[in-house]
Amino acid sequence: MELFKVYSLYDVEIVRAKGSKVWDKEGNEYLDMYGGHAVISIGHTNPRYVNSLKSQLDNIGFYSNSVIISSQNRLAELIGKVSGKEDYSLFLCNSGAEANENAMKLASFHTGRNLILTFTGSFHGRTSLAVEATDNKAILAPCNCSGNVLQTPFNDCEALQEIFKAKGNSIAAVMVEGIQGVGGIQIPTDDFLRTIRRLCNEYGAQMIADEVQSGCGRTGKYYAVDHAGISADIYTMAKGIGNGFPIGAISIAPHFQAKKGMLGTTFGGNHLAVAAAISVAEEILENNLIEKASEKGEFLMNMLRQELPSNKVKEIRGRGLMIGIELNEDSTEIRKELISNQRMFVGSAKNSHIIRLLPALTISPEECSDAVSRIKKLL
Ligand SMILES: Cc1ncc(COP(=O)(O)O)c(C=O)c1O
Repeated sequence: MELFKVYSLYDVEIVRAKGSKVWDKEGNEYLDMYGGHAVISIGHTNPRYVNSLKSQLDNIGFYSNSVIISSQNRLAELIGKVSGKEDYSLFLCNSGAEANENAMKLASFHTGRNLILTFTGSFHGRTSLAVEATDNKAILAPCNCSGNVLQTPFNDCEALQEIFKAKGNSIAAVMVEGIQGVGGIQIPTDDFLRTIRRLCNEYGAQMIADEVQSGCGRTGKYYAVDHAGISADIYTMAKGIGNGFPIGAISIAPHFQAKKGMLGTTFGGNHLAVAAAISVAEEILENNLIEKASEKGEFLMNMLRQELPSNKVKEIRGRGLMIGIELNEDSTEIRKELISNQRMFVGSAKNSHIIRLLPALTISPEECSDAVSRIKKLL
């Protein structure tokens, strides 16, 4: 049997990792400014994370949601505390797409409506409604076309008002990324987010913040949309909350009523995933990683703006440790060379001119400076 070849691979195999460093099987060291796609939050092989998983595995690795798993309550308490939403409730699942599916389903159950409004440039996952909510026709199969998704231009308040005027009474939810990641580090304006919030309130629709990539403190707040001084009705999470252990979650405002069987999953909230996520939340709280992400992000962005050649760079934008470098040229070869020559991992985006930086929240200022000089050398 062979693998089903759906991924474009770099010719490198990583076999070991620590903090923001990874090593290939020949022993070469790389600086990880990509965090395995915003997944590594508290650093590779963080000791608390490793010990937590090891000791959980010695006790019990899995049992289903048909019995009490009290560590789930501890995780809910911690996520409530670290996000400042202690009156919200937590539903646990396995991935970002699954979190978004559950959020949209819950909003639809709650409102009795069918339409989901999303925006150009968005990425919400590859499963049925999540992929329809995503702005990428190339990954949409005919069976994903339910007709339940509307899309308007990102950051366009007028178009938003128009669609609500026309269809507002059928809209179950508006789903927006805290910062568009795959879309190329596009930041929603405060005005845009507040208009979504206002229109949702006016028409009885639910606001879903997709914080799968922008959440977990990466932007200097636990949830990126909260920078606009608003709260969403449902926040979706995955990636960073497990530091590499697969887990997804949604944080649900108190006005939603749970009913037995309305949501569910076999693996969601299993002992190992919860142990991993507890260690992440504890590390974030104990080490003020959210504040530090904000400081280090500002330091890194300022240095990128000062050091990179202005004739090569169109714009550097981002928040905290979610940063996009938009070049005046295609970045594909540059990203390849960053790996092979400069031994550094970075991310790409739908727009191939963009280099995405999504390092662990624990990256050091020295590693940030090092990253800037490696990119500068190549440019
Ligand atoms: C904003 C956003 N939402 C959803 C997803 C889907 O997450 P997953 O790949 O865990 O299903 C991603 C993944 O990149 C994402 O960036």
